[in-house]
Amino acid sequence: MEGHEAEFQTLATAFEAILIAKNYGRGVVVRDEAHPLRFYAVRNWTDAKSAEKCHADPDVQAITSKLYQIARVTHVVNGVRRPDMLRLLLDDRRARIEADRRTGFDRRMKDSGNPAGADRRAGRDRRIGPRRLRDRPGEVDLVSAARRAREFAEATYSRFKVGAAIETADGTVVTGCNIENATYGLTICAERVAMFKALSEGHRMFTRIAIVADTESPTPPCGACRQILWEFGGNLEIVLANLQEETGTHQLKNLLPLPFDARLL
Ligand code: THU
Repeated sequence: MEGHEAEFQTLATAFEAILIAKNYGRGVVVRDEAHPLRFYAVRNWTDAKSAEKCHADPDVQAITSKLYQIARVTHVVNGVRRPDMLRLLLDDRRARIEADRRTGFDRRMKDSGNPAGADRRAGRDRRIGPRRLRDRPGEVDLVSAARRAREFAEATYSRFKVGAAIETADGTVVTGCNIENATYGLTICAERVAMFKALSEGHRMFTRIAIVADTESPTPPCGACRQILWEFGGNLEIVLANLQEETGTHQLKNLLPLPFDARLL
């Protein structure tokens, strides 16, 4: 949260001190130069048991409860690495000397917030933000998120439940489901619910949307949703899936040729 950066860093330092004092492991917090309100907390646990003990430790909980009041956790990525104390110590030294050694020439900084988004990427991994998190253990799986959102669908009249999950440029996932009501006409699709939720939470850059329905053939977004997704999300990657598998990936520009948008006004 803006204005709480110093407090955040003080709490993070106290957290790191406990990790070392109680031999739970090591920790370092790196500030993202491109996004001053974003921090990456990297923790190397001594072992899995230590991580568990640390989470249950009241001293740690006292710090984390304060941390969570001033900062939002958007990603937790778990990875396992062979224990290698020398390496851990070296990493720790390097972390202290070069807390954040990225410079203005760093490609990732230039990419951040680039409106060309998906178009600009050459490969699946060339993307802005925490791109290396993709396909790693602990990664938020967009299709699974859409499947879970679908469970909340209010589809009393059509019985056709749809779930959607939209990924923002910073890796946040916002979900939606279709919501029907007695007037029928005021129904809103899962995709627009997801997009409006994301917009209302301040997100403005998007990379992908997953859409899930319980159908054998793909359920693509309706015309109204294509328009809204295009206007606010640009050329999104659209991942279609049913409850078992992915049924296709498309670029929004191909689903909405010759679009009407603000450029024409
Ligand atoms: N629906 C969606 O939520 N998304 C789509 O892509 C297609 C249709 C919803 C609207 C309505 O509640 C139900 O599915 C049947 O049209």
